[in-house]
Amino acid sequence: MRSINGVVRQIQLPQVRDPRGDLTFVEGNIHVPFNIARVYYLYNVPVDAERGGHAHRDLEQVVFALSGSFRMKIDDGTNKTEYWLRDPRKGLYINRLIWREMDSFSQGVVCMVLASHPYDEADYYRNYDEFIVAVNEGIK
Ligand code: TYD
Repeated sequence: MRSINGVVRQIQLPQVRDPRGDLTFVEGNIHVPFNIARVYYLYNVPVDAERGGHAHRDLEQVVFALSGSFRMKIDDGTNKTEYWLRDPRKGLYINRLIWREMDSFSQGVVCMVLASHPYDEADYYRNYDEFIVAVNEGIK
């Protein structure tokens, strides 16, 4: 996978293989570069849903497709790229000030997100123009 300015990159988690079923684990500050303050997940997602459409002032996240697949469109204000998430071992690390959109969800998808901070609506840029201004000004 390509990375955007080193602020979006793939993270591969350990896997304990076993005939009884594989096991993957994640520890904050070890497998992901932050303390895990929050975990949330998306499920019952319609296949034609479009989610995301925001960036964050401070939040760092790692996003996984625990089951199924979806597309993550990434924009750092200058460069755009996209990633397909489909492997429960491989997460996408997304630093602050990255615009993201998610679509092309498979039926029954489960998306898990590890986040560096508790939920705070004030941390969101939900307006793309405001996000671009923030990127250009280098402000939080
Ligand atoms: P949002 O982050 O916009 O979801 P997505 O990026 O997956 O499209 O959040 C959707 C709604 O859920 C919004 O009203 C805020 C709320 N929410 C919480 O209350 N707590 C959370 O931890 C998250 C991630 C969202």
